[in-house]
Amino acid sequence: MGTSAIPGTALITGASSGIGKEFARIHASRGGNLILTARRKDALEALREELERDHSIQAETIPFDLSTPTGPQDLHKEIKRRNLTVDILINNAGFGGHGAFAEQDLQQNLHMVDLNIKSLMSLTHLVLNDMIPQGKGRILNVGSTAGMIPGPLHATYHASKAFVNSFSQAIASELKDTGITVTALAPGTVATDFFEKADMGGFRSPKQMASPQSVARIGYDAMMKGKLFVINDWKLTLLLRYIAPFIPRKSLLTAAKQFSGGN
Ligand SMILES: NC(=O)c1ccc[n+]([C@@H]2O[C@H](COP(=O)([O-])OP(=O)(O)OC[C@H]3O[C@@H](n4cnc5c(N)ncnc54)[C@H](OP(=O)(O)O)[C@@H]3O)[C@@H](O)[C@H]2O)c1
Repeated sequence: MGTSAIPGTALITGASSGIGKEFARIHASRGGNLILTARRKDALEALREELERDHSIQAETIPFDLSTPTGPQDLHKEIKRRNLTVDILINNAGFGGHGAFAEQDLQQNLHMVDLNIKSLMSLTHLVLNDMIPQGKGRILNVGSTAGMIPGPLHATYHASKAFVNSFSQAIASELKDTGITVTALAPGTVATDFFEKADMGGFRSPKQMASPQSVARIGYDAMMKGKLFVINDWKLTLLLRYIAPFIPRKSLLTAAKQFSGGN
């Protein structure tokens, strides 16, 4: 699938804001149809109207809470009921949290696992089994640079993204020569609502963060090229892939904790 070909229909989770909304805008600008999902119906409808007005495409909105036990299965059933085919799956929905694990609400951490890990795994499995008979498809999973080191004060979030980074690369290898590619996108900090929602309002000023537009474009282009793993910033690539592995683990954990406001 070249970048100039019409790219087919993309299912984007977490399309109501941030990076997910920008994936939708990029895909629509290439002439691709969309299935937009997240919980906020009004935000999805507003995006659908914008994209159908600005581009010659069709967008469907399917509001769903993907963190419920049957959320991904119910979404998949609704896609079938509407006779839609998913050519591209972008697993982007996710959220974080902040604070010492023992002091945090356990249910909120389990909810994070339900969304960041279980819903991504379920949707990938469901959609892959539709793609395999077609012999083609693209999957982009939004992991994080947070998944490349353990994160004191964000323990569950970092672990959930380590799962996404690892899982995506492993299944990409399993799918070699099937016509289906899986790409993991590992962004650094991105200026979205993520930090407010994760109770991390003062964590970093937006000036130091990448824009959701630039991160979505890097992820989307990497997915279209069938790349395995992409980080949006070369300095982070250098630090996390080539320097951090050689730093003693305890020192790395201390630095990560201080970066997150701990001591
Ligand atoms: N911002 C960063 O610095 C950063 C860095 C690395 C990775 N990431 C990852 O990038 C992805 C997108 O985050 P973002 O930064 O764009 O933040 P965001 O603006 O908060 O977007 C999160 C999206 O997930 C959706 N979502 C949350 N809970 C959901 C649920 N239970 N069911 C269905 N959808 C749900 C939200 O929509 P509703 O509220 O409408 O459901 C929203 O569309 C996440 O996976 C995040 O972990 C972000």
